[in-house]
Amino acid sequence: MNIQFTYLPGDGIGPEVGAAAMAVLQATTQRFGHTLEAEHHLVGGAAIDAGEKPLPETSFESCQRTGAVLLGAVGGPKWDHLKGADRPELGALLPLRKRLNLYANIRPCKPYEALLDRAPLKRDRLEGTDFVVMRELTGGIYFGKKGRDAEGAYDECRYSESEVERIAIKAFDLAMTRRKKVTSVDKSNVLETSRLWRETVERVASRYPQVELEHLLVDAMTMHMLTRPTAFDVVLTENMFGDILTDEASVLCGSMGVIPSASLSDAREDQRVVGMFEPIHGSAPDIAGQGKANPLAMILSAAWMLRLSFGLNPEAAAIETAVEQALASGDVTGDLGGTLSTDQVGSQIADRVRRAT
Ligand code: NAD
Ligand code: IPM
Ligand code: MN
Repeated sequence: MNIQFTYLPGDGIGPEVGAAAMAVLQATTQRFGHTLEAEHHLVGGAAIDAGEKPLPETSFESCQRTGAVLLGAVGGPKWDHLKGADRPELGALLPLRKRLNLYANIRPCKPYEALLDRAPLKRDRLEGTDFVVMRELTGGIYFGKKGRDAEGAYDECRYSESEVERIAIKAFDLAMTRRKKVTSVDKSNVLETSRLWRETVERVASRYPQVELEHLLVDAMTMHMLTRPTAFDVVLTENMFGDILTDEASVLCGSMGVIPSASLSDAREDQRVVGMFEPIHGSAPDIAGQGKANPLAMILSAAWMLRLSFGLNPEAAAIETAVEQALASGDVTGDLGGTLSTDQVGSQIADRVRRAT
């Protein structure tokens, strides 16, 4: 198969973890007899520095055409003085998500055995944790009207019923393939959008009688995630709550540097589900350029792209197995207590995939 995708390295550690993931993709495609056709494009601060908009139209067109995107991260202090859509986050990442209709963002939380003692939580609390956050990605406060007026500033939060319904369906469908439990997280004691969220989720739930539904308020959820992480299967939540809760969830897994994500749309006419794959972490300006970034989240995101955009299950599994082996052997970066550089972790995993039988 020819694996044609759009590669957007972005800013900060984005290109560093991206290079490691590309080495692993090269090894995997070679090993399984595929060809790799990565369309490299600028995005975010890197595009601004090249005199372009944060999301150049040529970059977007490539994403739209290939329907499979591997993204590092965008943003950083260098571009923090910029306002509104001139910013990498608001001018590139959010439009990419919106214009490709990537409304379903999936972020896993399943601590690796080898990392159970690296999390601040006690091992016996963590063991057995295995949940997935289904985060709504194209609505809510991120995309509402924002601005300044004489009195101050505002960010409007809106959700339509259909936006809530389609992400709820994704969560219940996923739960049907897992332990059949959905925990919906909202702030329905205060927010009207959350009241609509809860009513809509209840209605969708009535079509899935085998799935248990639990509602939690987001403030309480931040606590429950730490006190009873094994109680969750699929966590369904809106855009901003999902952003915050998944950084918290990454702590259970030992590092931000090990959590991949998939942002998916519905299948288009040619049956391809459009997807963008990226780590949940950002451009980590504090460690950029030092070879310290953990590339595992990016490598696992590349594996998810092979599985979800190209249907290449054994190929994705080979990468995931190699990652587990690297973790078990301690062949990791400093955030996980290892001594390897970003590149070394990438080439170790590439070698493991090449050697796999
Ligand atoms: P961050 O995720 O970049 O970093 C948070 C902390 O985690 C830092 O101490 C960093 O060193 C560490 N970290 C993150 N990824 C790591 C990795 N792979 N290996 C080892 N350590 C890692 O969050 P931040 O510092 O709040 O944000 C920095 C910039 O990134 C901001 O401009 C923000 O808007 C942007 N950002 C972009 C994305 C994205 O493009 N998807 C996501 C999050 C943040
Ligand atoms: C993420 C990031 C983004 C978000 C930012 C950079 C806009 O934090 O993907 O988690 O808030 O969605
Ligand atoms: Mn985030």
